[in-house]
Amino acid sequence: MEIHRYEQFWFALSLLLIVGFIGTITFGAVGAGVQMISDDGGTVEPTFQDINEHEKFAQQDGNQAVHVEDDHYEVAVRAQQFGFFPGTGQPIEVPEGSTVTFYVTSPDVIHGLDIIGTNVNTMVIPGQIAEFTVEFDELDGSDREEYGIVCNEFCGAGHEDMAGQLHVIPSDEWDGDQS
Ligand code: CUA
Repeated sequence: MEIHRYEQFWFALSLLLIVGFIGTITFGAVGAGVQMISDDGGTVEPTFQDINEHEKFAQQDGNQAVHVEDDHYEVAVRAQQFGFFPGTGQPIEVPEGSTVTFYVTSPDVIHGLDIIGTNVNTMVIPGQIAEFTVEFDELDGSDREEYGIVCNEFCGAGHEDMAGQLHVIPSDEWDGDQS
């Protein structure tokens, strides 16, 4: 069968487009590291009492990351109308060069937790504990690194003001539990 040269050209072009589309979809689904929000961190009754009694939230004392082992730390954050606790008022503090697992949940409505300048960006759903792990680099010199945290889900009248801070602290200034 004879296929005309122009027809071959358009066949090839359509094939290329299809392969290209599959490529971009695959990249978006796998390569970009985007995950659906899940209850990987477990579930909890969305009330202040049950959240505060949850293992991870009960161990969160103040605004500093809790030391687990070696360079691994944990931070439990309650996102609520209209702030992050810890995070709003007092910045969340993590030491430089640490690997930090966050546990985030909400006692009221859906919020977001977006740490500007990092790839941390999660929905916070009442009853579900979002869990994710972030590595913070060593600081060059002694300056601390400051990140803003914002809520990116409309959660009510105070949504625009729902913000916080995360500070990466130099190890010689870190006074958290180093044991
Ligand atoms: Cu919380 Cu918007």
